[in-house]
Amino acid sequence: RPRVLSGIQPTADSYHLGNYLGAVRQWDALQADYEPFFFIADQHAITVEQDPKVLRRRTLVAAAQLLAAGVDPERSAIFVQSHLPEHAQLAWVMECLTGFGEARRMTQFKDKSAKGGEGASSVGLFAYPMLMAADILLYRPAYVPVGEDQRQHLELTRDLAQRFNSRYKKTFRLPEPYILKETAKIYDLQDPTSKMSKSASSPGGIIEMLDDPKVSAKKIRSAVTDSGSEIRFDEESKPGISNLLRIYSALTGSTVEKLEGEYVGRGYGDLKKDLAEVVVDFVTPFRTTTFELLDDQTHLMSVLEKGAEQAREVATRTLADVYERVGFVPPA
Ligand code: TYM
Repeated sequence: RPRVLSGIQPTADSYHLGNYLGAVRQWDALQADYEPFFFIADQHAITVEQDPKVLRRRTLVAAAQLLAAGVDPERSAIFVQSHLPEHAQLAWVMECLTGFGEARRMTQFKDKSAKGGEGASSVGLFAYPMLMAADILLYRPAYVPVGEDQRQHLELTRDLAQRFNSRYKKTFRLPEPYILKETAKIYDLQDPTSKMSKSASSPGGIIEMLDDPKVSAKKIRSAVTDSGSEIRFDEESKPGISNLLRIYSALTGSTVEKLEGEYVGRGYGDLKKDLAEVVVDFVTPFRTTTFELLDDQTHLMSVLEKGAEQAREVATRTLADVYERVGFVPPA
């Protein structure tokens, strides 16, 4: 079976709806037909300052949420990035293949470093995409299921794989991004022309999966809508309604066209009230399962241990190939 791989950062107390619909839901869906590797990117998290206690807690909360979202440890290797030193080891090789200007063109680096001033950014933040390339290439996956904001990093990963293959010897498979058009970008509820984001959204703009469902319902009911009154998918002139329809469709399986039909002659308030209920029904069991997994962490810890073992089998082999090809003398 071809492999799939993806990762998520433990940089918030909860996944938001964008993380779930854009990425994690696809992880669940792909398990049936692929050999999956999914991990918590704690090393990416420290590219910006983190409180160690908070990072530790969030890493476990992130792993518990993967299980609650249906990622199944019987079918998928679920692990923590820092448990596999091979990621950082391959990242160094990737950094040595990357041009300085090439790395500087990464839009996520530009956005994040612009916020604190380039002087305030770490070298780690600059090297982030090369660590991500290493994460991916170690497992030689066919697909990498992510949201739209990761597309540029995937392109760099493919360029680096190609460069390594032609400079040394064919070693890496060129991974394809797996980005579903419908949910590639979920927007902020208060500012529906920006993506829903843990670092940039205002609290009212972001649905946190582990939040009190009443709070999430209220956020949906207070989502910014557009002028006019017709419920119609039109990203240009109705970004707010389009975003709500997109979320509604993704959570219920009903197509956007069908929803438009059902809401003919009805108001924005009706749509928001109904979607609020859909969201509550969805997050309620998700929260319960996550909190249960965190109450007694024995199961969670054994999942992560087994996941790391499965990952190690693959990662050590790839790294050994890479070290041999770049000309490192193996230890006696
Ligand atoms: P992260 O932790 O920021 O986000 C996790 C996943 O959620 C997706 N996402 C969204 N999708 C749709 N709409 C949104 N508003 C939205 N916000 C976030 C992201 O695209 C991502 O798929 N660099 C990665 C983590 C990573 C990784 C990897 C991913 C590290 N190594 C290797 C894949 C392969 C990141 O910061 O994602």
